[in-house]
Amino acid sequence: MKAAVIHQFGGPEVFRYEDLPDPKVGSGEVLIKVAACGINRYDLYLRMGAIFQDIAFPHVMGADVAGKVVAVGPDAAPWREGDAVIVAPGYPIDPGDWEIRPENAASSFEVTGTHSWGGDAEYIRVPARFVLRDDTGLPPEKAAAMPLVLMTAVSAVEKLGEVKAGQRVLVQAGASGSGNACVQLAAALGARVATTVGAEEKMPLCQASGAELVINHRRRNFADECLDWTDGVGVDVVIDNVGASVFEDNLRCLRSGGIFVNFGLVGGMKAELNIRDLFFRRHQLRGSFMGSLDDLRRGLALLRHGKINAFVDRTFPLKDVAEAHRYIDSRAVKGKVVLVPK
Ligand SMILES: NC(=O)c1ccc[n+]([C@@H]2O[C@H](COP(=O)([O-])OP(=O)(O)OC[C@H]3O[C@@H](n4cnc5c(N)ncnc54)[C@H](OP(=O)(O)O)[C@@H]3O)[C@@H](O)[C@H]2O)c1
Repeated sequence: MKAAVIHQFGGPEVFRYEDLPDPKVGSGEVLIKVAACGINRYDLYLRMGAIFQDIAFPHVMGADVAGKVVAVGPDAAPWREGDAVIVAPGYPIDPGDWEIRPENAASSFEVTGTHSWGGDAEYIRVPARFVLRDDTGLPPEKAAAMPLVLMTAVSAVEKLGEVKAGQRVLVQAGASGSGNACVQLAAALGARVATTVGAEEKMPLCQASGAELVINHRRRNFADECLDWTDGVGVDVVIDNVGASVFEDNLRCLRSGGIFVNFGLVGGMKAELNIRDLFFRRHQLRGSFMGSLDDLRRGLALLRHGKINAFVDRTFPLKDVAEAHRYIDSRAVKGKVVLVPK
């Protein structure tokens, strides 16, 4: 099969578009012909060797797959050839952890395509239990854009953020893949949403996603804007995928007793916490990593019912994977970027 392969860590130039042996299905596994595979910023970190050093080369990454089942191994019910499916973008890789719920609490839970081969290829082999029927009714490019960010949004916004109708919620980076899903979910839950962008061109996407207040963080201080928006009280919930560079201001505009959920670090990973403010202001600090299969099912149902939309900025042929990674790195993306094997 053709695949986007890395033989070493590094910049986008380490990708090679080359032939690999077709994967063979084993017991309890299905083989899927990849119709589209979404890219997440995680893939950029993985490619650079910034998360794991113990990746065996050659390696194929890619967590967000939509495609069709083309082979079914023994004990891989209920799948049949031709079924349209979505691959869970994360699952426990140790079968000894497969009964743990929620799945993302298992120590071997990881993003799909981390230690096993992912979907930046013509085919992917996956344990049958971590495959879901694709009933989104969307073209594969759109279906493949969303699983990881939907799973993440349900966990961060609904479960850990406990977002409710009428609350004021700040979501960082509303035009990022994950931030956009969080904006849409918070709005779908009836919350009033503020979000940040680094460029005016990203504002319409955030408005179309349900944000009431869109702040260009290069022009205005987002914490000041959120304090104005809430008459000085602060927002009820902050959903943050940016990390250190906005940590202090995130807490500055969080109301007393408010919930802060972090799940990302694109703006750095080491921040300083004022302990006095933490307890005087009774802030609830929570960390979120991916989500469970039920979170994914919930997110996909919202997608199917049109409560959340898949905003795909660009699709690239699989052979142009390096260009696609460069585009994400440029920070210009509005929504998601997807690879399509040709
Ligand atoms: N824990 C989880 O479950 C989980 C799941 C999904 C994502 N994440 C994490 O969430 C973060 C975002 O992921 P994503 O896939 O949504 O990213 P993305 O689509 O590539 O968007 C990232 C956006 O972050 C903003 N940003 C702010 N500071 C930045 C900086 N210093 N450098 C680059 N961009 C910066 C930029 O928007 P503006 O220019 O508009 O500010 C950029 O477009 C990553 O750290 C990722 O690992 C974690």
